[in-house]
Amino acid sequence: MIDMHTHLLPAIDDGAKDAQTAAELLRLEQEQGVKELVFTPHFYGDVTTETFLINRQNAYEKIREFVPQGMRVRLGAEVYFSGLRLAQFGQFDSLNIDGTKYVMLELPYSTVWPKSILYYLERWMNGTGYVPIIAHVDRYIEVLKEPTLLNRFLELGCLLQVNTSAFINRRTRSFALAMLKNGYVQALGTDTHDTQNRAPTYLQAKAVVEKAGLLAEWEQAQTTMERILENQRITVRVKKTIKKCLGKYR
Ligand SMILES: [Fe+2]
Repeated sequence: MIDMHTHLLPAIDDGAKDAQTAAELLRLEQEQGVKELVFTPHFYGDVTTETFLINRQNAYEKIREFVPQGMRVRLGAEVYFSGLRLAQFGQFDSLNIDGTKYVMLELPYSTVWPKSILYYLERWMNGTGYVPIIAHVDRYIEVLKEPTLLNRFLELGCLLQVNTSAFINRRTRSFALAMLKNGYVQALGTDTHDTQNRAPTYLQAKAVVEKAGLLAEWEQAQTTMERILENQRITVRVKKTIKKCLGKYR
């Protein structure tokens, strides 16, 4: 299995606080059957891209020796997108996932997104040629209020990432399963930060998915992630459009 979203690199963001924690998280990932993962530390633009890349490399060097044998790791970032601000990051190119055309973007958690956010997203995509993977779509209040936003993202050409915790959390479980069932999940990630409150939950999520009879869709998402990491083009096919509010899925 592939974990596309982790905060495992030590002391670079609010994730693993030291190399020891990172080593333990890597062990947990392996225990849960993760064979490949992407390090996606937060990038907020508060440091230059160059500084971020140096910090990321240094953090990686500290835990390199703890990467389990047989596990492939890649460098990426979770880039905070807030409209115009992103356009100011000149050397944005290197923040993609391991040299691919895919970039993981985190959107604001505010209860109301500015209407301009889709406009700037489209403008940024057209200007750079990059394909955004919208991080943990299950966590935005705007999406939970109005799931049709997912269709807008897909129409623009974005891909969608769902956190494994969304399948476990009772509040979001039905919605996450509906997304998986209907082709809305192109990437999965644990978004792990620590060994306590935000430890990897890949196996627990898989158990929920299996119980719901959606293992084929789960495997499809794994295949899509493989293709993303091989920098292949992804064609999204939604089975049934999610139009209704979250309540319908409870
Ligand atoms: Fe994250």
